[in-house]
Amino acid sequence: MADIAWTWIGIRASGVTAWGLLTAVVLWGILLRTRVLGKAASPTRLLDLHRWLGVTALAFLALHMLLLLFDPFLTFSVAQVLVPGLSAYEPLAVALGVVAFWFLIPVSIIGRIRSRMAGSGARLFQRSHWLAYAAWPLATAHYVLAGTDALTEWSIGVLIAGSGLLVMGLLARGFIPAPGPTRAAGSVVIRS
Ligand code: HEM
Repeated sequence: MADIAWTWIGIRASGVTAWGLLTAVVLWGILLRTRVLGKAASPTRLLDLHRWLGVTALAFLALHMLLLLFDPFLTFSVAQVLVPGLSAYEPLAVALGVVAFWFLIPVSIIGRIRSRMAGSGARLFQRSHWLAYAAWPLATAHYVLAGTDALTEWSIGVLIAGSGLLVMGLLARGFIPAPGPTRAAGSVVIRS
């Protein structure tokens, strides 16, 4: 244990946490859209949690990427962390993670500035959500292909539990019609 780099443990722990949070963000987005929980969860509370999970997922992802710069074994440069295909270590698997990261950026930026963009802000925000949803399969493929621990029993359990919940949420989205737009606190129209 003494000769295992702390950065390596940190990279794996932050990666799995970021994946779990990303899965939860998508799930909360689906719950917000379908209102499958009915009165058990108000749209405003679901939206708050959806936002909080998104910010926390990005924070763990930033940590995951930052630690790679300090790892003595993997030795990543800033360019290798940010540009898909430059990694010498598992180039394809890592590129999937880098693309997933970039897919998450527009939704978080547009989310902050959309109130200043009038009508086009809401449209752009909705479109950028599709990129964020697309980040999930990419991040999952990255997890499975790049992770040292990805195919251990506990990790397969995590992957099955997270993916299973999402599949159930998507089925609910398919079968339960979405309610009309709802006005929440601050007159935000909730449509994820
Ligand atoms: C949404 C984006 C991302 C998520 C959810 C994510 C998540 C993960 C997970 C869960 C692992 C497996 C940990 C393990 O069990 O061993 C992993 C490994 C790895 N990730 Fe990411 N990652 C993302 C983006 C990135 C980015 C942008 C980079 C930049 C280069 C990166 C580089 C790596 C590397 C090098 C590994 C292998 C670490 C090892 O196991 O030795 N990831 N990632």
